[in-house]
Amino acid sequence: MPSRREFLLRSAATGAFACAMFRDDAIARVQAADRGAGGASPDELAGNEGYWGQIQRAFAVDRSIINLNNGGVNPSPRMVQDAMRRHVEYANQIPSRNLWQVQDPKVETVRARIARQFRCDPEEIAITRNASESMEIALYGLDLQRGDEVLTTSQDYPRMINTLKQRELREGIVLETFSFPNPPPTLDALVREFKRNITERTRAVLMSHMTTYTGQIFPVREICAVAREKGITAIVDGAHAFGHIVFDGGAIGCDFYGTSLHKWLHAPIGTGFLYVRRDRIAGHWPLMAAAEPKKDDIRKFEEIGTHPAANRLAVAEALVFYEGIGPRRKEARLRYLRDRFARRLAVHDRVKLYTSLDPDQSCGMATLGIEGIDSGVLRKHLWGKHRIFVTAIKFEEIDGIRVSPNVYTTPIEIDVFCEAMEGVIKNGLPPADGGE
Ligand SMILES: Cc1ncc(COP(=O)(O)O)c(C=O)c1O
Repeated sequence: MPSRREFLLRSAATGAFACAMFRDDAIARVQAADRGAGGASPDELAGNEGYWGQIQRAFAVDRSIINLNNGGVNPSPRMVQDAMRRHVEYANQIPSRNLWQVQDPKVETVRARIARQFRCDPEEIAITRNASESMEIALYGLDLQRGDEVLTTSQDYPRMINTLKQRELREGIVLETFSFPNPPPTLDALVREFKRNITERTRAVLMSHMTTYTGQIFPVREICAVAREKGITAIVDGAHAFGHIVFDGGAIGCDFYGTSLHKWLHAPIGTGFLYVRRDRIAGHWPLMAAAEPKKDDIRKFEEIGTHPAANRLAVAEALVFYEGIGPRRKEARLRYLRDRFARRLAVHDRVKLYTSLDPDQSCGMATLGIEGIDSGVLRKHLWGKHRIFVTAIKFEEIDGIRVSPNVYTTPIEIDVFCEAMEGVIKNGLPPADGGE
């Protein structure tokens, strides 16, 4: 029989081994999945549950609930959370040394990795805490005069609209917005609306790469080309696009592109980036004062005082996870999962789909409503009765729930959601949940 000391040593060793296995588990699963993928194309692989089952198990999510609100903020796979924990522990050994002298310099490699994925120069990437911070740097840092106009859509993110409204109140700039139907008739119609609403006074256009309410993809390249031709600043809110759909960021032709990394990339909560085109850096004001605000150095946008490096450093693991799956495979899987519920539910007469299922117009999210059922009440019912989590969207003519699975979502979870929705379509809501 082992002595108590031997037992403790042995358990510690087993624990350490288990811990190492646990830590490497996510990437090992990506590798195992990859070996099983053969030469399948992203679309062929999209429904291969052997492959995606490995990816699902890289996450330690609570399977007693079904989270279909990944458009809000995403869980990180275990390898990302483990990296973050290691960095936090290391920083806390001696923060003023380990944080500033060891960890902060390593953020430069993360900058380079992000730039590689976005396809731009690392000197054009500022690492931020989220899309909101990125977009506010872009919107507040522009020199604008009283009467200058900024054009956007009514469906751009409320925080960005509020940023511009605050500039209206303080400085007398003018915010112009236009609305569009859900879904819009064509992508060209969106380009035409931007063109039609640009005036002599328009100094900047703001557009979402994918909208928050319905996941509508905007033809950002075409709109940026229109802006460029007229000498207008083009700002893209890519909160939902990076890590979700495949695109070449450097080729969009925008001046600013902001995103969160805790949404579709699965990076730690509190991470994002802002791309600023090289020739726009010097002229742009930082949001928090820098020693040389008009310096041609992207890092002036990161002067926010003491902040953790752990979450920034662990963005590297999130990129490794994403690259391991492959952006095209991830996009195809997200569309496959979205189509699984959207196409099934859309056949019901009472279902109104606010998102186009055209692959050029959308990917992993869809917003849909049931005629005669309030979306807020439906959201509560899905959570209360079925433990399915979605978000309700009520805006202009939209009264629906936005449904956004992710790579850890299983097809059975999607089917359970569909059955719950079909129950409501057929029988209405139970009286306790606001039904008749
Ligand atoms: C289009 C869009 N932009 C910006 C944001 C803000 O993201 P964050 O809260 O991560 O800053 C969101 C959040 O859902 C969004 O949908």
